[in-house]
Amino acid sequence: MKIFVIGDQEFAKKLAAGIPEAKFVEIRERIFPDGEICPRILIEEEGLFQNAHVVVAMQLELTRSKNQYLISLLLTIYNIKRLGAANITCIMPYHIYSRQDRETRLGEPLSSRYLALMLENAGIDNFLTVNSHSYGKNPLTDFFEQTNAISLSAIPIVAKAVKEKSGATKDILCFSPDEGAIMLAEEAANAINSPFFGAIKKTRDLNTGEISQELVGIDIPIQDRDILIVDDLVSSGGTMIGAAKIFKQLGAKAIYLAYIHGVHSYENFQKLEKEGFQLILTTDTIKTDFPSLTVISVIDLINRWINTQLLEE
Ligand code: R5P
Repeated sequence: MKIFVIGDQEFAKKLAAGIPEAKFVEIRERIFPDGEICPRILIEEEGLFQNAHVVVAMQLELTRSKNQYLISLLLTIYNIKRLGAANITCIMPYHIYSRQDRETRLGEPLSSRYLALMLENAGIDNFLTVNSHSYGKNPLTDFFEQTNAISLSAIPIVAKAVKEKSGATKDILCFSPDEGAIMLAEEAANAINSPFFGAIKKTRDLNTGEISQELVGIDIPIQDRDILIVDDLVSSGGTMIGAAKIFKQLGAKAIYLAYIHGVHSYENFQKLEKEGFQLILTTDTIKTDFPSLTVISVIDLINRWINTQLLEE
């Protein structure tokens, strides 16, 4: 079967380069004066996608509205289907709307489920993302009913990169900044053969949104230790900064932050920078451009899955 990788960023082009036989096709977007968008797939021959496998890989840019990104993606998927593709794989490196995965207050939308419905109605066969926020008690597969939905974990590559770049000579203690993410701390610890992982206890006031954090039930000394705080994403930065303060007060020698998705605004990233962390590391699931942020690519991780799982089926 013919295979195409299409997208609007270098990300898709690099992805295509790692898939034998795949051809890259660019999407070029026009924005009309009233704000509506027209993502055109730059194909030059009719019937090119007929009976083909088309992989749509759209990377979100930090400065771009997620809603516009979503409309662009949906229009593109409908378009690929109309153009005759036999199989459509949607690669959404950062799983948007995945944080609203349950009704915490009456009347709230189940956005994760609705996003899945929209993508399925548009015609996807496979959905691939990296460290979806829908995991643990609310796995991704609960939201996609007709699609093969996969969330790859970039935690091992991120943890190994922290170990290498930090130059830490002793074992790095791995923590998550809340209990919901403890499995990420465990995965990081396993990846770098660290003997310890744990979690900070975080509670959030549902009305004000304010959080409080404390370290409970951890008996390992923090004084003079290297600490890695790992999470799926950073938005306001409040969760990471709150957790880091606890370790600073306990006399940690160095604090490294690692998160998969940098959803933070420029201002919120500056707040992280001001804390003076030894290393702040993320991935390219979202396109960012902060000189002091170390970015590790997830392209090889995704390509491995495409080449060994998707195309081998
Ligand atoms: C929470 O469940 C997530 O894993 C993150 O810890 C949280 O969403 C980060 O948000 P912020 O940076 O705004 O504290």
